[in-house]
Amino acid sequence: MFQKSELQLERSKFKPVLPAILKNGPASVSPKFGKPTKSIADQDTVEKLFSNTYGKPVVTFAKGKNAAVAKKVVKIGVVLSGGQAPGGHNVIAGLFDGLKKANPKNKLIGFLGGPSGILENKWKEITAPLMDEYRNTGGFDIIQSGRTKIETPEQFQQTKKTILDNKIDALVVVGGDDSNTNAALIAEYFKKENAPASVIGVPKTIDGDLKNDQVEASFGFDTATKIYAELVGNICRDVNSARKYWHFVRLMGRSASHIALEVGFKTQPNITLIGEEVKAKEMTLSQVVDYVADIVMKRAAAKKNFGVALVPEGLIEFIPEMKELISALNDVLADNEEALNVMSHIDEKKKFVQGKLAEHLSALMKSLPGGISSQLMLDRDPHGNVQVSQIETEKLLIDMVKVKLAELKKAGKYDGKFSAITHFFGYEGRCGAPSNFDTNYTYALGYNAVTLALNGLTGYLSSVRKLVKNPSQWECGGVPLTMMMNIERRKGKEKPVIQKALVKLDGAPFKMLQKNRQSWALNDSYVFPGGPSSVTDITTKILQYEQKGKK
Ligand code: FBP
Repeated sequence: MFQKSELQLERSKFKPVLPAILKNGPASVSPKFGKPTKSIADQDTVEKLFSNTYGKPVVTFAKGKNAAVAKKVVKIGVVLSGGQAPGGHNVIAGLFDGLKKANPKNKLIGFLGGPSGILENKWKEITAPLMDEYRNTGGFDIIQSGRTKIETPEQFQQTKKTILDNKIDALVVVGGDDSNTNAALIAEYFKKENAPASVIGVPKTIDGDLKNDQVEASFGFDTATKIYAELVGNICRDVNSARKYWHFVRLMGRSASHIALEVGFKTQPNITLIGEEVKAKEMTLSQVVDYVADIVMKRAAAKKNFGVALVPEGLIEFIPEMKELISALNDVLADNEEALNVMSHIDEKKKFVQGKLAEHLSALMKSLPGGISSQLMLDRDPHGNVQVSQIETEKLLIDMVKVKLAELKKAGKYDGKFSAITHFFGYEGRCGAPSNFDTNYTYALGYNAVTLALNGLTGYLSSVRKLVKNPSQWECGGVPLTMMMNIERRKGKEKPVIQKALVKLDGAPFKMLQKNRQSWALNDSYVFPGGPSSVTDITTKILQYEQKGKK
């Protein structure tokens, strides 16, 4: 096959540690059921929409003889959905090994290129030699990924057809909140149609926003934040050496600011903006700019015309006035698709759209730099989300901070230099070699997903808990997908979706930032992480702060 790097050769020797409960395979585990559950909000509406799968109990695995799961020969289909996250290959390895342990005749197939592979019936069998090429590696390239959303009645019928034609007993959807919402809808559809296949989700996203009491972390967050932290740490060291630039680093995370928070803990830069705080304080764009400019000014007064600022990519949507603008734009773009499609120039489109917006929103849009207002107009993804990874919020902030500093200079309050450099770290972290934590976690998630499927469970998310403990002590089971749902407005319509887990302002991690940020702003308390693989066993600071004191 392809030439392998030293790192790949080294990682191929790694043996993931399975939680003790899964060690002897699916036939030695039996499910224990808790009480019926409710959705996180909008219970009546969600229950009506999921009348066949709503309210299932949380499942935990305990030791027990369960020979039945090994008797029947089964076929499982897996699909990788949405953005890449380190560890995806090991989810497949866990699925593969769990399936074969239950019965060596069992088969695993992978749909190619994301959910569109299901619609087009494109797949390949995961064989032992193929699997061995990809164990413990980053990327999703074994079967690739995609963002197609299964939403029309024809697409649901086609999904059923593919599953029945291929005699698939269970479909495993590896995805974030939107992809797992899709998994829940497919599970419901299969039940309604008496299609004998179960659907199991696996929590994937570097954004870290698919979590709750049962799902402590989505996979990939740990590795991605380690990669970004190493890069940001290097920038901090450069800043501290050259002492002449401000670096504005935008970090991925479509909505929640977990990535910025974790990287902030790991590197202690001068500014870590948190979108959720901006929203809670109802800060305007110019108030955010004032906050940043104030720190630049204070550092300049101490003869420090340098620093590092972390900007979560989701910030833009958390600024209330910008959120209002984006959501009005979502509706205008969805309602006028045809008219806009025939316009070839962006200025023409902008003029048209501005004419449809309320006066104050139109004025706000006109006040933004041209590049930013064009980026706000870009196509939404198939789930209706604005593509924040294409919006250069860090440039917007720098431009506005410059204006503010010029005013302060005029007023005699500032006498420094502001030379700013931009970075965007996102794609750099999504396919990195998984950390030891993610390597073990993803393997366990896959093995656990098979165990749920072999027990005939459907509409569940694979859940591996107690993640700050040693992997052998991790607890396993499943959490009903409907439990995480609420109703939100998407593409101009009310839809059931898995609620994103945002940074909790009353949670231990954010409080830790609050306690330290003033000192980090003015002193140079930079930390330079990264490096030896031994440190990759330690999981995130966020999980450590969240789980502190819990048994
Ligand atoms: P998922 O939610 O699918 O895991 O994707 C997350 C993400 O990496 C975001 O952080 C980012 O905004 C987005 O994907 C970028 O999407 P794309 O890969 O389509 O450019």
